[in-house]
Amino acid sequence: MDNYIPVKIYVNNIKRDDATLHRLFFLYPKEDIYFEFTNDGLVVYLRELDFFNFKRNIQLLAKNSNVDTAKLLNSILYNIEKIKSYGLKGRKRLYVGYDKERKVKNRIEKERIRGTYYYAKDNTFSRQNNKIPEQFVNKIITGDSEEILKQFPENCIDLIFTSPPYNFGLEYDNHKDGIDWNKYFNKLFVIFKECIRVLKYGGRIVVNVQPLFSDYIPIHHILSDFFIKNKLIWKGEILWDKHNYNCKYTAWGSWKSPSNPYLKYTWEFLEIFCKGDLKHTGNWKMADITGDEFKKWVYARWDIPPEYNMKKYGHPAMFPEPLTERVLKLFSFKGDLILDPFNGVGTTTAVAKRLSRNYIGIDISDEYCKKAEDRIRNTQVNTSLF
Ligand SMILES: C[S@@+](CC[C@H](N)C(=O)[O-])C[C@H]1O[C@@H](n2cnc3c(N)ncnc32)[C@H](O)[C@@H]1O
Repeated sequence: MDNYIPVKIYVNNIKRDDATLHRLFFLYPKEDIYFEFTNDGLVVYLRELDFFNFKRNIQLLAKNSNVDTAKLLNSILYNIEKIKSYGLKGRKRLYVGYDKERKVKNRIEKERIRGTYYYAKDNTFSRQNNKIPEQFVNKIITGDSEEILKQFPENCIDLIFTSPPYNFGLEYDNHKDGIDWNKYFNKLFVIFKECIRVLKYGGRIVVNVQPLFSDYIPIHHILSDFFIKNKLIWKGEILWDKHNYNCKYTAWGSWKSPSNPYLKYTWEFLEIFCKGDLKHTGNWKMADITGDEFKKWVYARWDIPPEYNMKKYGHPAMFPEPLTERVLKLFSFKGDLILDPFNGVGTTTAVAKRLSRNYIGIDISDEYCKKAEDRIRNTQVNTSLF
């Protein structure tokens, strides 16, 4: 059920209870085609369709409908008819995956032989998800995540989104940054082990990191290796391109020589892992991502400027709200419980509140936690989403 192509239909003042519209889609299984309303119309999700049968039904229904409904039905037909790339299976047009079969012969059989995420199959995670005690929900907690997380039951968090300190040597309030790499990783691994424990079966952890290129330490690979060894499923990697080009030409390594050129990056990484299952169970009515957002954000290179308000918040390493909004809408449902164990001044928790998620933010600095609480108090729940 994952792969559909979204077809956006713009309509002013759409009537959500339009019986004819619902009757049309009732004729087809959700595996093939379904639709969802958006603020400015609807999105039709299309996988496969007997197009001429669909066209006939639309024409029949439109003939017996009022002007607005007929216009809407014809617009749906027009937008689907416009799609000229598809495969054929009997009478059906296949809109998804039809070209894969051609490039790799017997693709399905080869996939079966290879198997998926072999490294995580022998996990021993419990499938029993648990409720966390209310005292922790929608709270900002000051303390060391290693200690605080021990108080949570296992399998209780839907999504963890976080960015640990990168060990670059930044000036945090009371965290010492820039220590021996072994000590740094040992501490991170202890905290991330707790994160894995508290994550629900089917929950996700998304970690934003920037390797320290000048030390030749690929933090994103080292952390990914840790999660894989701890039996999480690698779901993917997002390149967050900040386009901070002023960093680009400051260090050359060996100028105009292959002896030791120094590579520069304008992006950071988001590593995404799942516990037990790639699918996260939830009510689809609680999904708040629009068709346009979905279409854009599943392409895993995100162009988002860095946070410009770090001085205002008095924190040296924040990620921006638009990045958080994408992660939360793409990987969690409204009402889910979101945890950030390195919450800083609370970007994750403020966005979670705005998007009607529950949240828990932990940071070792009391000063940052107070700012995160202020931010929560000043954040309104986004009612335009409902
Ligand atoms: C990169 S910052 C996260 C900033 C956050 N994403 C934001 O937008 O405000 C990492 C944070 O981890 C906190 N920290 C460091 N060690 C910690 C620990 N053991 N437990 C909890 N927080 C810790 C630091 O105080 C710092 O605020």
